[in-house]
Order: sequence, then C-alpha cells, then structure tokens
Amino acid sequence: MESSAPPPLAVIAGGTSGIGFSVAARLMQDGYDVLITGRNTSRGEEASRKLKALHAEGEAAFLALESSDWHAYGRLVDALASRPVSTVVASAAFGMQAHVIDTPTEAFHEMLAVNVAAPLHLVKTLRPHLSSHASIILISSDAGIDGEQALGAYSVTKAAVNMLGRMLALDLAPEGVRVNVVCPGDTVPGMRYLLRPGETERSREDYLAWPIPPRGRLGKPEDTAEFVAFLASPKADFMVGTVTLVDGGSRAGRPDAPQAARWG
Ligand SMILES: NC(=O)c1ccc[n+]([C@@H]2O[C@H](COP(=O)([O-])OP(=O)(O)OC[C@H]3O[C@@H](n4cnc5c(N)ncnc54)[C@H](OP(=O)(O)O)[C@@H]3O)[C@@H](O)[C@H]2O)c1
Repeated sequence: MESSAPPPLAVIAGGTSGIGFSVAARLMQDGYDVLITGRNTSRGEEASRKLKALHAEGEAAFLALESSDWHAYGRLVDALASRPVSTVVASAAFGMQAHVIDTPTEAFHEMLAVNVAAPLHLVKTLRPHLSSHASIILISSDAGIDGEQALGAYSVTKAAVNMLGRMLALDLAPEGVRVNVVCPGDTVPGMRYLLRPGETERSREDYLAWPIPPRGRLGKPEDTAEFVAFLASPKADFMVGTVTLVDGGSRAGRPDAPQAARWG
C-alpha cells in the first residue's frame, strides 16, 4: 500500500490570538498542520483546542515561547520533531501609544527585539528545516508604510520589518524560499499589546477612535489570513520580496473630508 505524504507544516509565531490565530485556522483549512507560539500558556492551549475543533483532520500544537528569548529557540526546533516546515508566519508584536521621542528607552529596545529581531531569529532558526519552495510571511503594519506619530516607535519597527522582509527575500530566493511582507490596517479584534507607557496589558479599547477605511469597515483577522494563505500557496510562486497592504484603502491617499483624530 502506498503511504501518502504527511500534511505540510506551518509555524506561526504569535498564533494564539488575533491575526496569527486566524492565519493558523485558514492554513489548516488548506490542509496544513500548525505549530503556534505565544507566551500565555492557557491562551495557547485554548487556541490549539479551538483549532483542532475547527479542523479535526489537522494537528495544532502550541509551544510557549517568548519571541525575544533567542536562547530558547532550540525548543522550537525540538517541537518540529524533524518535520520540514513549509510556511513560517511571524505575527507576534507589540506597540506603544506614544510619540517616538517620548517612548521609554527600555520599551524601544524591547519593541525592536520582539518586532524586528525576533522575526529574523525565527527565520534563521528554521532555515535548515525549511522544505523546498517554503514560504515565509512577515506580518508588518500599515504604520510601517505611512508612519503614525501616535505610535511612533511601533511605526519605526514596522518600517524595519518591511525592509527585513525584502532583504531576507534576496538572501533566501536562491534557496527557493519566498519571503513576503503583509501590512494589515486596523483590524479587530487585535493588538492586545498596544500599550501606553508603563502598561503591560492594554488598559482600554481604542477601537472606537479608529477611522473607518474607505472600504466602509475595519479589518477582520480573516482579511489578512486570506492573503497570507495565498502567499503561502504555489499560486504566489512569482511573489518575492513584496510588501502589501491589506487595509481597506486606508493608505490609498488623503480622503476629501478630514478624518477623526486616531486616538480621541
Ligand atoms: N490588529 C491590528 O489592528 C493590526 C494592524 C496592523 C498590524 N498588525 C500586526 O499584526 C500582528 C498580529 O497582531 P494582532 O492584532 O493579531 O495582535 P494580538 O491579538 O495581540 O496577538 C499577538 C500575538 O503575539 C503573541 N505575542 C505578543 N508578544 C509576544 C512576545 N513577546 N513573545 C511571544 N509572543 C508574543 C501573543 O501571544 P501572548 O499573548 O501569549 O504573548 C499573540 O499570540 C502584529 O505583528 C501586529 O503588529 C495588527
């Protein structure tokens, strides 16, 4: 009897909530097994239970991993159990509601570590374990294209993610690995760590102050997940080093009427 090939495996850093979780669910719909990471163990285990309930035929495993703790990345390799990785999605990030000039130095360095250095270390760690024609997708932000003063340091880190993705695309293209960057616009639910200085958890929902994009609604995690699934698929074979907005037109240009201030 012929043995069938095992399902492809996707690693999603920050896959326990918001966009990362939605990406995991969408990739499972395409037949992937997923390994999701995050820090909070109960949220992670709940997320993997939900994913298995949504797609009983697939495997969803959770690994607790602090993105900025590179010394612990060996545990990620152990969790692969020698399986090749077809798709890597770097989604974990946090932001701070402050001008860059007012961002505490420690927070700035932590944001660089989690938002910029961690995706690089993730890719470096998984590189020897990538299958041929693997796809890597970095989740950036519209704020990395058109900076937001109110999220100054976050905007800086996301602009860096955009260039990181393009440079990695050049480095890995000769190996047959495609790297692309996706920049979501305001997406609900999401950004549980859009902190004010001194906070470790977001203290209040600011979504109501978010201007409605030209599309007529805020983003849903599924909007980004759908595009990530496309980038992960062979249909996106010629897409390398792209940086693409999924933002309902928010950054298309200056609208006629002045929009409400972003943070009321
Ligand atoms: N939602 C939006 O409006 C929006 C807009 C533009 C761009 N984005 C980008 O989209 C990506 C996902 O955001 P989201 O809205 O889905 O956020 P989210 O719901 O807050 O999810 C963040 C995920 O990252 C994990 N995470 C955060 N910090 C981590 C750390 N230091 N180490 C390990 N895991 C960490 C979280 O797990 P734990 O809680 O367990 O740590 C969770 O799984 C981010 O890169 C964000 O910048 C979001």
